[in-house]
Amino acid sequence: MKVVALNASARKDGNTAILLNTVLDVLRAEGMETDLIQLAGKTLAGCRACFKCFETQDRHCVQKKDMLNDILDRMFLADGILLGSPTYFSDVSANMRAFIERCGMVATANNYMLKHKAGAAVVAVRRAGSIPAFSSMNLFLHYMQMVMPGSSYWSLGVGMNIGEVLEDQEGLRTMKTLGQNMAWLMKKIAPPQPR
Ligand SMILES: Cc1cc2nc3c(=O)[nH]c(=O)nc-3n(C[C@H](O)[C@H](O)[C@H](O)COP(=O)(O)O)c2cc1C
Repeated sequence: MKVVALNASARKDGNTAILLNTVLDVLRAEGMETDLIQLAGKTLAGCRACFKCFETQDRHCVQKKDMLNDILDRMFLADGILLGSPTYFSDVSANMRAFIERCGMVATANNYMLKHKAGAAVVAVRRAGSIPAFSSMNLFLHYMQMVMPGSSYWSLGVGMNIGEVLEDQEGLRTMKTLGQNMAWLMKKIAPPQPR
């Protein structure tokens, strides 16, 4: 089984990446393959509202200049999807918002192509605004008809400079519990293997 994680922070290997990797470490220990995509240094464009994806129905967006279609291909083949965003002005980053718009439209146009996968979200935050960011991603996962594991708290980690989330013990515990619950869920909902 495979989990694809998407880090929409503008900082590579920053706090969001640390939180995602804390979840992924647990998933790897549970036998899952993992793939971490970091968007730092890359720009995803927003949806153009052309609705061409409803005509082509090829599981791709007609905007081909950025890596959105590559992300869609990798997510389509995965069993679990983990989204990560820093809090930017009390919501997700621009790249996460662009991903939500275009992945959401393409997936909807293609019979909810991500449905029945396990889906979860994590947020890095300096101080406040993490809950709207967490909600934006969870609202998306719900609309995509994914199955969402919970944790012992909302999955956020507190820190400003890179590495500071490692001092947030409760945040790290929340990530580990999320990893355990996601692994548990994925094993429950995995399609039966051919004999
Ligand atoms: C453009 C921008 C906006 C931010 N807005 C907020 C905010 O609204 N609330 C907050 O607590 N932290 C805010 N932060 C701080 C980041 O959420 C925090 O540093 C986080 O750990 C960054 O994660 P990263 O290392 O993965 O980039 C902001 C940072 C940036 C660059």
